[in-house]
This record gives sequence, structure tokens and C-alpha cells, in this order.
Amino acid sequence: MSFQKITYPKDKHKFYRLLEGQARALTESVPHLMSNFANISALLGSALEEINWVGFYLIPKFFPEYYPLDKLAGKEDLLTVGPFQGLPACVEIKVGNGVCGTAVAENAVMLVPNVHEFPGHIACDSASNSEIVLPIRNASGDVVGVLDIDSPILERFTVEDQEGLEKIVKVIEGIL
Ligand code: SME
Repeated sequence: MSFQKITYPKDKHKFYRLLEGQARALTESVPHLMSNFANISALLGSALEEINWVGFYLIPKFFPEYYPLDKLAGKEDLLTVGPFQGLPACVEIKVGNGVCGTAVAENAVMLVPNVHEFPGHIACDSASNSEIVLPIRNASGDVVGVLDIDSPILERFTVEDQEGLEKIVKVIEGIL
């Protein structure tokens, strides 16, 4: 498959400002939450250089309109893979496990320069070398899921990437 790509600015501030506007434009007046997650992952997948996985892990109990909670048998608290771009990924992650689960347990962004040095890192794609995971919070402040981005490059993500991606997460939190 080949998709048309736009040329993004090299400057990270300009890059993320443009991306934030695109994320807003893609999702505003779209009432379908899962469609919005899908389009945001496609947007990030097409715009971010040197990444091999980008997408969402969601905690089902916060999305009862999408998950049949009566059939989940105790799995409603597990981070569950949502819309993403990349290789097939592990489906469920316990809060506290791996980088994603730690981001939820600590309610904090995990910027991991080398995943091989992160205790308990879950290797869904052996090509991954660095990673950033950002918590997504609802209006009550609960962490309802994460945005997870993996890269084959060591130290791919900087504080500038974190600040830019936090703006994208704010757009997502605005449509929950
Ligand atoms: N890297 C994650 C697992 C998910 S995959 O990377 C898609 C982690 O350790 O939490």
C-alpha cells in the first residue's frame, strides 16, 4: 500500500502545532470515539518519522459503550489494545506491567530511551528500541488508556516530542 504523505516541518514546535490542528480537524464533529482513535493513530503513523508502532491501549471499564462488560469476566481493568498502526500487538496488559502498565500505575508519561533497560518491558515487536507512553485521562482525572509509540531508533523521543504529543493527547481527552 502506498499513501500520499504531506511534507511536515522539520522544526518540532511547528510540526506538532500542525499535527495538533490536523488531529482537531479530523475529530471535531465526529461523534464516534473509536473512529477518532483510529484516525488519530493513522495520522500519527503517517506523520511521525522513525516509528514502528503507534496506537492506543484502552481500559474497557471506562468505555462501556464499546466493550461488553458482562462478558469480560474480570478483564475490564486490563489495558486492551485499541486502534493502532504497526505489527499485531499483545492484546492485554495488566496495570503495573510493561511501559504501558507503568504509565497507568504511576499516572505519568514514560519516556524510555532504551526499552531493553526498562524492567518488564513487553516486546510486541522485536524492532522496538525506544518508546513513549502517555496516559489519557477523562474529565474526572481517571487514566482511561494510553497512547503508546515505539521506535526502532534508540533515544528517538525527546522532551519536545513529549510536549507535542501531550497536545495531541489533550485533543483526544477533549473528545472522550
Ligand atoms: N511496549 C509496550 C507493549 C505494547 S507494544 O509495544 C505495542 C509495553 O512494554 O508496555
